Order: sequence, then C-alpha cells, then structure tokens
Amino acid sequence: MTINPQQAAQARARIEGMKKQFEQKRQVTDSLANIKNKVGVYSGKGGVGKTTVAVNIACTLAHEGASVGILDVDIDCPNVVRAMKVSEHPLVGEDKRMLPAERFGVKVMSMGFFQQNEDEAIIWRGPMVHNAINQLLQSTEWGKLDYLIVDLPPGTSDAPLTVMQVLDLDGFVVVTTPQELAKIDAKRSINMIRKLNVNVLGVVENLSGEVFGTGAGEELASEMGLRFLGKLELRSDYRDTSRPTVLISNEVLEEYRAVVSNVLSALEEAVGAEAD
Ligand SMILES: Nc1ncnc2c1ncn2[C@@H]1O[C@H](COP(=O)(O)OP(=O)(O)OP(=O)(O)O)[C@@H](O)[C@H]1O
Ligand SMILES: [Mg+2]
Repeated sequence: MTINPQQAAQARARIEGMKKQFEQKRQVTDSLANIKNKVGVYSGKGGVGKTTVAVNIACTLAHEGASVGILDVDIDCPNVVRAMKVSEHPLVGEDKRMLPAERFGVKVMSMGFFQQNEDEAIIWRGPMVHNAINQLLQSTEWGKLDYLIVDLPPGTSDAPLTVMQVLDLDGFVVVTTPQELAKIDAKRSINMIRKLNVNVLGVVENLSGEVFGTGAGEELASEMGLRFLGKLELRSDYRDTSRPTVLISNEVLEEYRAVVSNVLSALEEAVGAEAD
C-alpha cells in the first residue's frame, strides 16, 4: 500500500493533535496535583444560591484552618469575584503561570478575570468552553491546598457538562430551595451528575424558613438516597455584601459549620468507598 503525501500530512497532523491533547491533560493534572479534595457546588436551577454556598463553604473551611481555593467556572455569570471582593487580576509569574489573589484566607480564581467588563455577556460554545476551562486549569498555580471549591454554572447545558468532564471532582454539593419545583430540577441535576459517574456528596437546602417553607431538601435527599447536608435559612444578613456572610453572622457561621462537617464526612466516605 502506498501513502500519498496528503494522507501522510493528515496523519502527522492527527498525531500532533493527539500529542497536544495529552500534553494539555498532563498539564491540568500537574496543576491540580497538590490539591487534596475538589468539591463542586451545583444546582439545576439558577439563582438558588450556588455562589453564596460555594463562597461561604470556602470561607468556613479557611476559618477552621484549612488551606482553601475557590474556582469560579460559571462562564456566563462569574460572580465569585464580586462575592469575594477581588478586583485585581491574578499575578502572572515569569513562567506565565497565574497566581490566584487571596481574600479572607481563600485563594480565588475566576473566569470573570477574562471579561473586559462586568456587564459583558460571553456566549460560549462547547469547544470554546472546553478550551477556556483547560487553559484556566493549566495555568493556575494553586500550590498546596486542602480543598478546592468549584462554583459551577447552573443547568444541564454544555457549560456545566464540560466542566464536569474536564475537572476530575471528588464530589458535588447540590443546592436546592424548599419549593416543590426546585426539587424536580434538583433531581434532574443529580441524575445528570450520576450519569457522568461523579459522586454526589449530598443536598443543601438554601433559602429555608418561613417565606419559602422548609423540608424539600431533606425529602429530596431521602428520595435520591443521598445525605442531607443541612439547612441554610433565608436571612437579611446576606444583604451586607461587604464580606461573605459567615464572616458577618455567627448564626450563619454555625449553619455552615454543620454543612461543612457533613461534607467532610461524605468526602471521607467517598474516599473509603473508592479504596474498597
Ligand atoms: N440564605 C440566603 N438568605 C438570603 N439571601 C440569600 C441566601 N442565599 C443566597 N442569597 C441571595 O440570593 C441571591 C442569589 O444567590 P447566588 O448568586 O448565590 O445564586 P446562584 O445560584 O449562584 O445564581 P446563578 O445561578 O445566577 O449563578 C444573592 O443575592 C444572594 O445574596
Ligand atoms: Mg452563581
């Protein structure tokens, strides 16, 4: 069989492409190698409090002495930067690697750093999401971390799916609200995560209390055979946006301590199950 020059060039290009992909994957793995636990925060519905939960879990862990990072991969609405009060871009070292800014004892990296201005809408398609997330992961210098908390985009579209595939997470915290409808969305999200073979650590009920009621989170957890991680009440304390709320209200800090303790137990259980 003879191979013409065109076929040979195509084959070489394919091999180059594969090499590049392997190299990218290796760099991402290297970059995340010193992080002990990677936990995603996710919900099917928007606006249920994912960013709030991610930021406050990160700050609670840091408050308890752990080394923590937060990664915002919500590419449509990267709000972690605002919630963590980071205004400056990450420092770039000589080797072109980015050093995350540190606030409230937490290292912060966000897709938001790459927006020209805060109002800008970025419309991403699958391959772009893949590339952007890979680049962010490859070039961030986290150093040693006990926990990396990842704020995901909502829904079951391309963006959250890609994030779940690129990032090898140890587990997810699913956020839901007390309403019946939210439960349906949350079920869909849990089934999606399970399809991707990622561990669900449990369910948090946010905005719990007199206004929206209470109990749907616990019901959801038991219906799906998951751990209930705790309730977070709807409170006016969240209106003060000068700092993450666990650093403002002791009551909120107590709620988050309980959630964090359940998340850590779920993580331990997940690691144990993997070892079996
Ligand atoms: N327990 C709570 N009590 C009162 N307000 C809350 C509570 N949790 C979140 N909020 C408020 O609700 C709003 C939406 O929260 P947040 O941005 O965290 O939701 P999200 O799920 O990340 O949204 P998106 O889907 O747009 O990313 C914010 O203004 C936040 O301060
Ligand atoms: Mg958000």
